[in-house]
Amino acid sequence: MHPLEHPEPELPFQRQVDDARAERALRAALDAGATHVDTSDAYGADGHNERLVGRVIKDRRDEVVVATKFGLAVQEGEESRAFPVGYAFRELRVNAEPRLIRGYAERSLANLGTDVIDLYYAHYPDPGVPIEETVGAMAELVRDGLVRRLGLSNVTAAQLRAAHAAHPVAAVQNEWSMWRPVDADLLATARELGVGIVAWSPLGSGFLTGGVTELGAGDFRHNAPRFSAENLAANHDRYEPIRTIAARLGLTPAQLALAWLLHQDEHVVAIPGSRTPAHIEENVAAADVTLHQDTLAQVAEALAKAEVAGATLL
Ligand SMILES: NC(=O)c1ccc[n+]([C@@H]2O[C@H](COP(=O)([O-])OP(=O)(O)OC[C@H]3O[C@@H](n4cnc5c(N)ncnc54)[C@H](OP(=O)(O)O)[C@@H]3O)[C@@H](O)[C@H]2O)c1
Repeated sequence: MHPLEHPEPELPFQRQVDDARAERALRAALDAGATHVDTSDAYGADGHNERLVGRVIKDRRDEVVVATKFGLAVQEGEESRAFPVGYAFRELRVNAEPRLIRGYAERSLANLGTDVIDLYYAHYPDPGVPIEETVGAMAELVRDGLVRRLGLSNVTAAQLRAAHAAHPVAAVQNEWSMWRPVDADLLATARELGVGIVAWSPLGSGFLTGGVTELGAGDFRHNAPRFSAENLAANHDRYEPIRTIAARLGLTPAQLALAWLLHQDEHVVAIPGSRTPAHIEENVAAADVTLHQDTLAQVAEALAKAEVAGATLL
């Protein structure tokens, strides 16, 4: 079937979830020592995931940095602009107009059951609004104590620079993993400005764990070219040298993927997603792994040879 004829697929962050399982997973993460919780007002309908996070952190608020995002959960009757994304063959609809931003933040605060958001991101830049105007309205939230720090997600180096001139940006959140290099200009700009980088899908949507060799029916990754049956098989073979390095170090491939990221920059935070407590413990342990320079060089060499089949997700 041609991709454009594909029936309207679910976006990955709008999938049905098992709340009890998700709450167990988040509790397991906090118990294992995770301190950074990443959500969005667009994860699930009507702030579903924010409310779930709120229930779990209710008695543990001081243990976590709570990060959430706005701009994709556009209210009925409001305009929005298209931001094309490769995954799921569709576009996202964004509205980050300054007049709406306080309302977004108040809704997220209520969903999260907290009186302050530690890190508040524009989820995607709004193609119809200069980013400094969006950030200007976000800055008022800091001034008024609703938000501690500002973040931007899915931005370019130029957008980061323009935004940072309006108000200091604490973090950018973009896709970054072994099979999805971060934009070099963005990384250089973040370093120059002292902005932290939060790496989304640090496990390549599961691929880098080595455990995804075929997809079940209904898996949203069917919509991503890198996960087509043919590309997935080719990519699995091409990443065999990486899995071999992990095994030699006594690490799982997921741990090597996360530890590798944490060694790319002093100010990187990886936010792996998982519903499985055993995976979460394994992932948290990766934060304590030190990789030797020789190992990093071997990984770099293996990655340089492992050309990925299929377009990136974005
Ligand atoms: N800003 C943005 O636009 C944006 C976009 C996408 C994602 N994000 C953020 O990034 C987070 C992570 O991204 P993601 O979940 O899409 O991708 P990911 O973290 O790269 O991969 C998640 C997948 O890996 C599996 N997994 C995790 N740890 C594992 C382990 N140790 N062993 C085996 N399998 C493992 C998970 O399955 P199990 O559940 O079975 O562990 C899940 O299928 C999201 O939760 C979200 O907060 C942000």
